[in-house]
Amino acid sequence: FELKTTFPENFLWGGAAAANQLEGASNVGGKGLSLADVYIFDENTPKKNWSDQWHLMTHKQIEEAQDPASEKYYPKRHGVDFYHHYKEDIALLAEMGFKAFRMSIAWTRIFPNGDELIPNEEGLAFYDRVFDELNKYGIEPIVTLSHYEMPLHLTTKYGGWVSRKVIDFFVRYATTVAERYKHKVKYWMTFNEINCVVHHQYVSLGVIEENHPNIEQAMFQGAHHQFVASALATKACKESNPQAMVGCMVSYQLLVPYSCDPDDVQATVDKQRTSLFFTDVQARGYYPAYTARMFAEKNIVLKTEPEDEQIMKDYPVDYVSFSYYMSGAVSAHPEKIEGAEGNLLTGGVKNPYLPSSDWGWQIDPKGLRTAINQLYDLYQKPVLVAENGLGALDVLQEGDVIEDDYRIDYLKEHIKQIKEAIADGVDVMGYTSWGCIDMVSAGTNQMSKRYGYIYVDQDDMGRGTKRRIKKKSFYWYKNVIATNGEQL
Ligand code: BG6
Repeated sequence: FELKTTFPENFLWGGAAAANQLEGASNVGGKGLSLADVYIFDENTPKKNWSDQWHLMTHKQIEEAQDPASEKYYPKRHGVDFYHHYKEDIALLAEMGFKAFRMSIAWTRIFPNGDELIPNEEGLAFYDRVFDELNKYGIEPIVTLSHYEMPLHLTTKYGGWVSRKVIDFFVRYATTVAERYKHKVKYWMTFNEINCVVHHQYVSLGVIEENHPNIEQAMFQGAHHQFVASALATKACKESNPQAMVGCMVSYQLLVPYSCDPDDVQATVDKQRTSLFFTDVQARGYYPAYTARMFAEKNIVLKTEPEDEQIMKDYPVDYVSFSYYMSGAVSAHPEKIEGAEGNLLTGGVKNPYLPSSDWGWQIDPKGLRTAINQLYDLYQKPVLVAENGLGALDVLQEGDVIEDDYRIDYLKEHIKQIKEAIADGVDVMGYTSWGCIDMVSAGTNQMSKRYGYIYVDQDDMGRGTKRRIKKKSFYWYKNVIATNGEQL
């Protein structure tokens, strides 16, 4: 029995980002429109509606977005222009001592519409340049294949992931990049926050409007197709590079019962399974026992093919990764208790013991230790904390100073708990905090909801110089990495 009191030597310290929030240059290099490219930001929309398009999108909104005369502002087409700043940005990550950078490939740079037979060489060449730049500094890329950015065409023409045809398009894309980058990328992830398919039908599945008689049926059908696609992508990555490590990724919001009322306890188990269902399938390679009852209660009948079961069984993931921003409390009688304002995913109630971020996300560092332990106990596979961080309003002071002590406190407390989980015996591979450089928010499309160590001079409407400025947390994180987590 060897007690581990320090972070492992090869711990993957770093940060995470997604192409659609970061790159911009949406009309450059032959890129097609992704579904993220049609979200608007409008200062006049009430704040509480900012995330609406994330869940639901109408044909009318999409048509308008494709009209060159549209005067609306589409932030994810602009990101923070990493496409043209990648050298400068990667140099800053290297200055912080990053060992890993979690990023996604924009599917639409490789297959602009998603259903082409031949990939777009200009898109492939862009990621060659990015990986080479990372490699120059010894930064390991951890690449997500699909991070809320499927080709828009696949949603309008085929109805998104509800269509089985999309599996073939995805596998073609995954095989293309796995083969192309086999000497440059070792760590892959298939679908970002795959469990969000049961919460956000548009962003996760590309399903436009609720034109399905049983939307849950559509969501789980889409999930099944993603499971098969993920297993086939895992196969592709491993055939191209036998050393490749492929992970799943869930949004893991630790849930606790609001009280010790047995009904609250059971409600918590049921709700936690809306996330664990996904890791159960992807880490074990088969549907968990509770699926039959869950599907019966929701009137879900999945359409599957005979080979699906074997494919999923043959290619489970190598590691389990997750995003963790908050925990949630669950009550069997939520109508009697104050709701947690920012809890978009599970709609839990407010936990009176926890503080909240400016967006109402309830901050629970100790919950991270519990979450890591839970996932490891269940699957006995290495765990990667793929996202964690504090979205906050930063103030740029004179002399390019940004004193984000609140962010340092948040990150410090969470990293302490990762260390605890390591002492608990968990094989934690790494920590890639979210939004190491400021970028457009996934949920609200704001620029002012910032997570980075690096400030980008740009506002919600895309105005600004895009100048990169180091925040106080930049220097703090640099020291954390330099001391391998000993000095927090
Ligand atoms: C995760 C996503 O849900 O949370 C990221 O994988 C996202 O893409 C992050 O940016 C933070 O959410 P938001 O809405 O504050 O950007």
